Amino acid sequence: MAVARARAYHQAADEPRVFTDPLAQRIIGESDFRANEFDRGVDQDLARRRRLFIAARSRFADDVAAVAVARGTRQVVILGAGLNTTAYRNTTEGVRFFEVDHPDTQEWKRGRLSEAGIAVPPSVTFAPIDFEQSTLAAGLAAAGFDRTRDALFIWLGVVMYLTGTSVDDTLRYIADHGAAAEVVFDYLYPTAPTSRDRSTGAQRARADRVAAVGEPWLSFFTADQIRAELLSSGFARVEDHSATELLAAYGIRPSTDVDSGPHLVHAGTMSI
Ligand SMILES: C[S@@+](CC[C@H](N)C(=O)[O-])C[C@H]1O[C@@H](n2cnc3c(N)ncnc32)[C@H](O)[C@@H]1O
Repeated sequence: MAVARARAYHQAADEPRVFTDPLAQRIIGESDFRANEFDRGVDQDLARRRRLFIAARSRFADDVAAVAVARGTRQVVILGAGLNTTAYRNTTEGVRFFEVDHPDTQEWKRGRLSEAGIAVPPSVTFAPIDFEQSTLAAGLAAAGFDRTRDALFIWLGVVMYLTGTSVDDTLRYIADHGAAAEVVFDYLYPTAPTSRDRSTGAQRARADRVAAVGEPWLSFFTADQIRAELLSSGFARVEDHSATELLAAYGIRPSTDVDSGPHLVHAGTMSI
């Protein structure tokens, strides 16, 4: 809900708007849109920066999806989909969307879609999977995912909630795809325990908040670690953007330049 609300609020609050999603507000509903509990007491500048990164990563994933579909990719897998609305906005003929999520979250989302009157098109297949308990291979096979056809995996705002082993298993599963595969995901940099940087302090405070609601961050990487992990898993091409670089690409200059915080990766198994 926190990230879905950030996307919804971005539609009205931010200039320039980097991500357009006409369903963002509908899927969360009026009362949750107004509640804003996750940003209460947070420095407004940092809340805006976080919101812009959430919007920018969705825009980036949408742009990658558009290029992949134009190239002929017909399978898009959204890992840890949450209230992501990509599958309900993209109606390109013949493209299948697989929404993978924890069974509890997925049930909650289906309730939200129905309350909001957002129809689930036949192109969407739900695959309930707990990444820590069962394999993506089994869950996606059961959902009819074709390992011999090109696929794009969108994995936003999830890696930090998983153990290193689950992250590793998922990347290897994607790299072992029988056709071209690409993935877009974000990850968090470890914060230096001695840093007094304002943004690093905010990341620590946010870590405490998510842990307090029972969803602690478990994984942190540096760009070098992620690159090494992707290349050893079988990826051939890795593009890594810090939040600052990503926002700059969309015309947004942050008030502070920081190394901590999220990074966004686009990696592929072939040099396409
Ligand atoms: C912060 S939300 C991001 C949701 C969505 N990708 C977005 O950007 O709006 C984290 C997502 O990870 C999923 N998740 C966390 N741990 C999981 C697990 N062990 N198995 C499956 N999904 C998990 C949650 O259900 C949730 O949908």
